[in-house]
Amino acid sequence: MATLSLSEQSLREILVDLAKEAQLRRFEVAPNPAVGAAVISGGQVIARGFHEFWGGPHAEVEALRNAAATGIPASAWDALVVTLEPCSTTGKTPPCTDAILASGIRRVIVGSLDPDPRHRGAGLRQLQEAGLEVEFVPRASEIDRVAPHFLRWVDIDRIRRPRPWTIAKWAQTRTGQLSPPPNVGEGRWISGPESLKEVHVLRGRVDAIVTGVTTVLYDNPRFTVRPPGNPAKPPLRVILDSYLRTPTDGRLLEAPGEGEGAGALHVLCQAGANAARHVALERAGVKVTGLRSSEEDHVALRDVQEWLWTQGVRRVLLEAGPQLLTRYLEAGFVDQIRVYTGPVSGGEGPSMAPWFGKLRMAERLDREVGGDAVLESFVLGAS
Ligand SMILES: NC(=O)c1ccc[n+]([C@@H]2O[C@H](COP(=O)([O-])OP(=O)(O)OC[C@H]3O[C@@H](n4cnc5c(N)ncnc54)[C@H](OP(=O)(O)O)[C@@H]3O)[C@@H](O)[C@H]2O)c1
Repeated sequence: MATLSLSEQSLREILVDLAKEAQLRRFEVAPNPAVGAAVISGGQVIARGFHEFWGGPHAEVEALRNAAATGIPASAWDALVVTLEPCSTTGKTPPCTDAILASGIRRVIVGSLDPDPRHRGAGLRQLQEAGLEVEFVPRASEIDRVAPHFLRWVDIDRIRRPRPWTIAKWAQTRTGQLSPPPNVGEGRWISGPESLKEVHVLRGRVDAIVTGVTTVLYDNPRFTVRPPGNPAKPPLRVILDSYLRTPTDGRLLEAPGEGEGAGALHVLCQAGANAARHVALERAGVKVTGLRSSEEDHVALRDVQEWLWTQGVRRVLLEAGPQLLTRYLEAGFVDQIRVYTGPVSGGEGPSMAPWFGKLRMAERLDREVGGDAVLESFVLGAS
């Protein structure tokens, strides 16, 4: 094995650079941590890799793949440097420790241990037991700086009472309304086509889309995934419909068009809701589940969250109107927001604008796409 000719200072710099760049993808990968990795050969970084999006390959796998593509033989790779301890369990992808062992690399240097109490140290132990040299550069890419959202995800209370990571996405006018003013014109969206493309990408990277029955009744949506989103694994489509008002002849029940993906359709209602509607919806191909009621006589959101978790749903996209959005925000069930503000003023229905004064946001990012302003942020709660 070649000796690594890098000082601890250089390693620290590599780790800090990787961590900074990985952090740019924080909203794409959450609730996973943002991670970067590099392969070193002859004292140089020959390849880097990042966890680009939730469900996609991890940084270690990307870095090793990119290193292989350089043509430099694996026998000349000195070390894999990675901002966070490699995972040793199967999640959306196989364990990174398997990929590292298969690559033949003999040394792994990490900048931070896995903060998840269930996995901390396990990846490093597994590599050590397989005979690899493992080194920890303390404080080089501290997880509380690099991916604080991940600390919230693996918080002991959340592990005890798990619920999916929930991203609330909405499009609003400049004054915060989610429905455009009537004079805007038939079929006109608040946000533009570039924003819609982003939404399809996002839909392809969640396990479920959740909405309220009023949105179904007003908009007759389909909640499909179209390119540039990945239609191959479309998310479940989940309608919160306490009294089973979802129509059996809506577009949700149409087969997806060519090149589109549409996930299984679920309606969550109050237990014992209208038996005839229950049968009619199930005959139409909808899966209907009865849950407990909230004090306000809607389906209880805590039960919705638990039900989603039992279905294997870990990342949810909430695409609802102001009523359900407000309930989710009040309940503290929103972990992340993506808000598109289109170049239209006024509109119908309540404005979401007051929420921007109430939400405690973290790591906020403001950007533009097409003619729309986009706000992305993690949500710590509401005051
Ligand atoms: N611009 C955007 O991003 C966007 C996105 C979606 C919708 N919209 C617009 O929003 C409008 C509809 O707004 P909305 O606020 O009435 O629709 P919504 O929030 O999507 O749905 C509200 C309905 O959800 C049901 N629900 C079930 N469980 C609930 C719970 N725990 N808490 C609250 N509601 C629960 C309620 O009816 P039951 O209790 O009877 O089931 C309630 O009437 C439409 O005009 C649509 O175009 C805009």
